[in-house]
Amino acid sequence: MKFFIDTANIDEIRQAADIGVLDGVTTNPSLISKEKGKFEDIIRQICEIVDGPISAEVVATDAEGMVAEGRKLSEIHKNIVVKVPCTVDGLKATKKLSSDGIGVNMTLVFSPSQALLAAKAGAMFVSPFVGRLDDISHYGMQLVEQIVSIYNNYDYDTEVLVASVRNPLHLVDAAMMGAHVATMPFKVIEALVKHPLTDIGLKKFLEDWEKVKGR
Ligand code: G3P
Repeated sequence: MKFFIDTANIDEIRQAADIGVLDGVTTNPSLISKEKGKFEDIIRQICEIVDGPISAEVVATDAEGMVAEGRKLSEIHKNIVVKVPCTVDGLKATKKLSSDGIGVNMTLVFSPSQALLAAKAGAMFVSPFVGRLDDISHYGMQLVEQIVSIYNNYDYDTEVLVASVRNPLHLVDAAMMGAHVATMPFKVIEALVKHPLTDIGLKKFLEDWEKVKGR
C-alpha cells in the first residue's frame, strides 16, 4: 500500500519524507491557499523533496481549460499527476490528458458510478473522499469497498486513492479493503505510529537497562 501526504506544507512533507515511508503527495487549491508563495513554486519544491506522484489540481471548470492547465502543470516535473474534478468536463479532460500520457487523479469522487467513469476515462488514480461522506452520515469506507470490488471485477488499472482521511482507522480499513493508496494529513501519519503500550514498554525497558549498566 502506498502512503501519500495530503498537504502543501513543505515542513510537514519533509518530516514525513524523513520517516522513509512516503510515496507521494496530494494537494488541492484549499491546501495551497494555506501556504505562502506561488502555486507552481510550491509544487516544484514538493517535487524536489518526494520522488513519487505529486498531485496538482486544475481550477478551470471547462474541459478545454482543464486540459490546457493540466498540460502546463505536467511540464513542471515528470512526477506531476493532474488532479481533475469528477464532472462531465472533468471526464472529457481526463480522457484527453490520459490519452496524451499525462497521469490524472480524478478527485471529489463520492459515488461508485463516478469511480467507474473515472476508470473508463483512463484516470491513473480515483480519489473517494471518505471523511466528507462520514461528515454527512454516509459510510465513507463503504464507498471504497464498492470501488475496489468494481475495479477488481473488470481489472481496471486505475488505483484507488483513499482521500479525506481523518484518522488511523480510515487507513486500516482502506488497507484491509485492498485500496492501493491512502493520502493523509501529517497528524494522521503521526497517529499511525503512536501506541501507549509502546511508550510504557519502552520506558520500562530503559529503566531496567539502568540496572544492567552498573554491573
Ligand atoms: O486532498 C483531498 C482530500 O484529502 C481533502 O480532505 O479533509 O479536506 O476532506 P478534507
